[in-house]
Amino acid sequence: MQLRRDKNVFALLLVAVLSTAPLFTAFANEYRLTPTKEDMMWLLPDHAPAPEDNITTPDRVALGKALFFDPRVSIEGNVSCASCHIPQFGWTDGLQTSKGINNKNLGRATPTIVNTGFNSIQYWDGRRPSLEKQASGPMLNSNMMAADMAALVVWLAAEPFYQTWFARTYPNEPLDQAIVKALAAFQRTIISNNSPFDQWLKGDQKAMTRQQIMGFRLFSDAKKANCVACHHAPNFTDNGFHNVGLASYDLPKSDMGRFAHMPVAVLRGAFKTPTLRDISLTAPYFHDGSARTLMDVVEHFDQGGKSQHDISSSIKPLGLSLEEKQAIVAFLQALTTDHAPVVLPKLPPPNPLNEQHVK
Ligand code: HEC
Ligand code: HEC
Repeated sequence: MQLRRDKNVFALLLVAVLSTAPLFTAFANEYRLTPTKEDMMWLLPDHAPAPEDNITTPDRVALGKALFFDPRVSIEGNVSCASCHIPQFGWTDGLQTSKGINNKNLGRATPTIVNTGFNSIQYWDGRRPSLEKQASGPMLNSNMMAADMAALVVWLAAEPFYQTWFARTYPNEPLDQAIVKALAAFQRTIISNNSPFDQWLKGDQKAMTRQQIMGFRLFSDAKKANCVACHHAPNFTDNGFHNVGLASYDLPKSDMGRFAHMPVAVLRGAFKTPTLRDISLTAPYFHDGSARTLMDVVEHFDQGGKSQHDISSSIKPLGLSLEEKQAIVAFLQALTTDHAPVVLPKLPPPNPLNEQHVK
């Protein structure tokens, strides 16, 4: 009986394998299954580059991590950076668009901070050039953390835990500068570079399935999906801005993106090309959170966008087959690193006698 059942299973498996074989042979002939020398351009270094005046050291990273997770940085003592950049959700929040103080809708999706240390622009509209220049943004923004910087600095200087850390890591730096530098140092260490795709590049031929390899070849093929026109190696971004034709752009008072900071016609409704590493962890997608799944995103590009008004000239209907779209989705799923769980930092315990900066 047992033997018979095994035989049936075997026969079923054989049928399953044979029925997919023509697809695999067709693409195996067309697409290369092993990485080429050129594919190595996708390998991401282990360390993100740091400016000379903020070299990454373990102490600075540890201090930045404490600040990142400490809600007492915010005016009401209830919002930390990690309230929106939640480690378990790929350092985003899983919301369509972010919510700030009093649940105020902030209008744009929370981007991941993964690999952001490799990028030369920050925010969907690139309004900050570096992590050092970015960090004070959410801290001071009245809808996000609304920190009172002067009062915050007084608290940090009086709190022995932080005082010791700051003296050790940034001895000659005013505290308001040291805070943003420490946050930047920590964020530079949030890196995804060991996904199945990376393992495949490094020589493990079994790390990606054939379908995923096919997806990579379609993604990179200028005559097929041509996603590489914007999602460049190694971090899947050209650090540029494009209008990808989201439906929300046709609404009255639509978000003008980069154009609001640099009024050049091609930047109307253009947003930053985001990294695609760890993308399976950060749904929903796009700056307006309008795509619920990776298939929704691929369908969007396959259709050549929705709004055609000011759309990038690199976006055209692609005519991909269902198999091809599925392969691209499978490839995008191969870009996620299996990270070790994030260890929460030690914070000084609440001390209401010395937390006057929290209202
Ligand atoms: C209330 C939610 C919220 C909080 C709190 C918050 N962020 Fe953000 N973060 C966002 C949103 C939304 C954006 C995108 C805003 C935009 O593009 O206009 C963003 C963008 C960023 C970016 C740019 C990433 C990229 O790829 O462009 C970085 C870096 C960042 N935040 C770090 C921080 C740090 C550090 C803190 C704490 C000091 C913090 N955030 C607090 C919601 C939040
Ligand atoms: C013309 C440049 C361009 C091309 C071509 C392009 N992208 Fe993008 N991609 C972008 C930009 C810019 C965004 C962000 C747009 C926004 O939110 O307004 C984006 C967003 C995405 C997102 C969502 C990321 C997130 O964190 O929300 C995914 C996934 C994605 N692209 C995958 C692809 C795939 C797959 C292809 C090929 C089929 C492709 N892209 C082609 C520029 C491009």
